[in-house]
Amino acid sequence: MTDGPLRKKILITGATGYIGRRLKIRLIENPALTLRLLVRNRNKVNPQLQQEVEIVEGDTFHQQQLAQAVSGIDTAYYLIHSMGAGSDFERLDRTSAENFRDACIAAGVKRIVYLGGLGVKESASKHLLSRLETGEILSAGTDKIQTIWVRAGVIIGSGSASFEIIRNLVQKLPLMITPRWVTTQTQPIAVDDVLSYLIASHDLEYQGNLVVDIGCGRMKFGDMLLETAKAMGLKRFIIPVPVLTPRLSAYWLLLFTPVPFKVAAALVEGLKSETVMQNDNAARYFPQIRPLAYREAVLQAINEIEQHQVISRWCDSSGGAVCDINAQEDIAAAVLRDQRIYDFGNIAGEKYMRPSAPSAGNQGGLPIIFSGNYEDL
Ligand SMILES: NC(=O)c1ccc[n+]([C@@H]2O[C@H](COP(=O)([O-])OP(=O)(O)OC[C@H]3O[C@@H](n4cnc5c(N)ncnc54)[C@H](OP(=O)(O)O)[C@@H]3O)[C@@H](O)[C@H]2O)c1
Repeated sequence: MTDGPLRKKILITGATGYIGRRLKIRLIENPALTLRLLVRNRNKVNPQLQQEVEIVEGDTFHQQQLAQAVSGIDTAYYLIHSMGAGSDFERLDRTSAENFRDACIAAGVKRIVYLGGLGVKESASKHLLSRLETGEILSAGTDKIQTIWVRAGVIIGSGSASFEIIRNLVQKLPLMITPRWVTTQTQPIAVDDVLSYLIASHDLEYQGNLVVDIGCGRMKFGDMLLETAKAMGLKRFIIPVPVLTPRLSAYWLLLFTPVPFKVAAALVEGLKSETVMQNDNAARYFPQIRPLAYREAVLQAINEIEQHQVISRWCDSSGGAVCDINAQEDIAAAVLRDQRIYDFGNIAGEKYMRPSAPSAGNQGGLPIIFSGNYEDL
């Protein structure tokens, strides 16, 4: 790896996460850039890739590691969140963003590009609120550093938590009893389009901070389920009922999808509020990017799964207690198995038990609820 004087230096944080893994693969193709990754564990980076990029091992809570990571950088991508860290995630997110912004300013970084969530504070879930607050903190150094804040709603891509939930529900349930929030409006987006906006953000000619809301056409959450069914050649029916509480809905997702309770609960909570674009800056400043329609995004995600080309999964970060990838080379292993082991305790007065051998991705000894691969269906 040579550092030509004209090569722009880019830092990717969260490079072992769902978006970061894909972004680094796209950016590495650009010979005009030099890439540096800030990762908490360098073993999570493909050994071949380790030869092509500079790696700083550390996190945003250590001043020295941060200073090393941002030194000499032109544009720094902030793709970090602390949702997997438990109930304290908001405080951690706040501190992490403040540390990062201050370190970038001190090092003379010209631009931060942050990917956060779509929505408004008034109706935001706790998770989304924290994402919005992170954007505000990163954008608060106005006269010292520029922040491009890209905001996305549901991301449709192979291995994304939302898509895995949708795909699993649609495959397994001809008739879906859903919370009434299936009527909530949203604007999903294909993961490749998210990457295109992020990539175009590092050399956008623009002065000052910018918030860029991204998404495809408006639709209801329920329509996402029905459109996915159509794209998969399935006929499905939805019956919204008012009695499904967020907690019950999350348990229900546990039964039919591969995500753990914490992820399901956060996603269900998010369903209650509209996630629609609040500005037209995507079309105004990035007219060259034409986001895929929802159906195309679904077909692309399914195609990646069928071709065993799942580059990243929602559980690649240290929420990875759930399904850490040991063999980074084995793309086939990256396809999510909807094999979950959970101790539901007494839901509806019943203990769900079906003992089985633990799977590779799940080394517990608790009951298996569903088992099988996408390919089996
Ligand atoms: N994925 C989506 O569907 C979606 C939708 C809308 C917006 N977004 C936004 O996109 C961004 C990236 O999300 P993602 O889904 O890619 O997240 P993710 O898969 O959970 O990855 C998070 C990354 O952050 C790293 N990280 C966490 N805390 C850190 C710290 N203190 N210091 C250094 N690294 C740290 C993790 O490292 P480890 O691997 O060591 O855990 C991991 O690489 C977030 O801001 C999110 O709000 C995502």
